[in-house]
Order: sequence, then structure tokens, then C-alpha cells
Amino acid sequence: MRKPIIIANWKMYKTVEEGRKFIAEFPLDKELFSEVEVAICPTFTALQTVGEVFRNTDVKLGAQNLYPVDEGAFTGEISPVMLKELGCSYVILGHSERRHILNETDSFINRKVKCAFKHELLPILCIGETLEERQKGKTEEVCIHQIIEGLEDIDTKDLARMVLAYEPVWAIGSGINASADEAEETIALIRDVIGENLDKEVAEKMRIQYGGSVKPGNIKEFMKKENIDGALVGGASLKADSFYEIIKGARGGKEEE
Ligand code: PGA
Repeated sequence: MRKPIIIANWKMYKTVEEGRKFIAEFPLDKELFSEVEVAICPTFTALQTVGEVFRNTDVKLGAQNLYPVDEGAFTGEISPVMLKELGCSYVILGHSERRHILNETDSFINRKVKCAFKHELLPILCIGETLEERQKGKTEEVCIHQIIEGLEDIDTKDLARMVLAYEPVWAIGSGINASADEAEETIALIRDVIGENLDKEVAEKMRIQYGGSVKPGNIKEFMKKENIDGALVGGASLKADSFYEIIKGARGGKEEE
């Protein structure tokens, strides 16, 4: 059985002060978090504050990016060593905003995935098609390409521990989520592709999330699906109460399966 995982992606929202306010309002529900894994990926400036409060709790800390080198002359970038020092367990890689706004390629993302593992940071690798690609019937092709290139030459032991997030680009921040059936169909296909091209056991063990306009009102529908193991949540993770409701919904959805 794969343990459900809900991850907050705060993107470029929240000052340190706003992060503190979130923490003060967020219930540390030990029982719930033993059933649903929870991670929060704040801005770099809020990582330390959020990390200190959640240290020794069940809430994990994640970063939103890394540069795939330990240290050096890379102005404006952040090293995996620095993220580890702050207590990060996870790192979001290949988010569509970085692919499309910052032109990150699959091979560059693959370097980041390898570097994350080298430093014991678990990647949350994001993949997904744009609206144009979907309309042209290219969803499968795009996702398969991003998986195969992004995960090239990664040890199967490592692959089984990481998280994959299927996030159709048209559903991110738009308020228009993919239907649970659409998400399940693509995620089931992703699992098959992993089984056929990488490793059968990895395909069974790897947790695959859905992301894109997830909210308290729709999480249960996604979680009822066999292949969906959780969600990567942007907008609805910015308020402590709605993020907490999503985590509760993730447990509820699996119970009703
Ligand atoms: P959203 O963002 O929940 O605001 O759609 C999801 C994401 O970008 O990871």
C-alpha cells in the first residue's frame, strides 16, 4: 500500500512573517499525519523559519528548486547542500512554471534529479502537458518523454522513493481542475510506462500525485482513484485551514474507496 502524500507548493508567495502566521494556524494532527504524509515547500526566505517550527514533527520540509552543483559561482542559485542544512527532505523539480517561464529542459531537470539523490533530497518531479498539447492529442507523448528523459540513469532503489506529480499545465492556478477520471487515466498510463521502461516494482511503489486546482471540495474524488496517491497543491495550500481540509480529505477519499 502506498501512503498518500499531500504537498504544499507556496510558489513565490508568503514572506517570513506570513509563513509564521500560517504555522500558528496549522493544526499538528499527529494521528492524521501518520496516515497521510505532509510536506510544505515554502519560499527560500521562509525555509529556515518554517523548518525550525516543524523540526521533529511529522510535517516535512521541501524546497521548490535547486541548482545541480554543490557550490560555486552561480549567482542567484541555491545549492542542495544549503537546502539539506535547513532540514529539507524534498525538492520540487521540473515544475511547469520553471519549464515554461525559465526554459528548463528535460536534460537539465535530469541533472537536478541526480543531484537531489546525491544529497539525500527526494525529488518531486513534475510532468504534464499544455492545453495546446492536449488538444493535439499529445498528452501521452509529452508525459512519456518527460518521464524517460527526466529519470534517465537513476537507480531503481532511488526511483521507488521519489514522488511524481502529474500536473496538466492548463489546470494549474486556473481553477479548472482535470476531472478525477482524466487524471486517473493519465496517471495509470504513467504507471504503465514506468513499469515497461524503468522497473515493474518501481511502478508499484512510486507515489504519483495529481496537481492543478486541487481544493478541499475536490480532493476526495481524486483520492478515490486507484492510481492517485495524493496531491501537489498550490493556491489552496496558502491558507492553513484549506490545506488542513485537503489533508483530511485525502484520508477520507482513500477510506471511501
Ligand atoms: P494550483 O497549483 O494548486 O494553484 O493549481 C499547483 C502547482 O502548481 O503545483
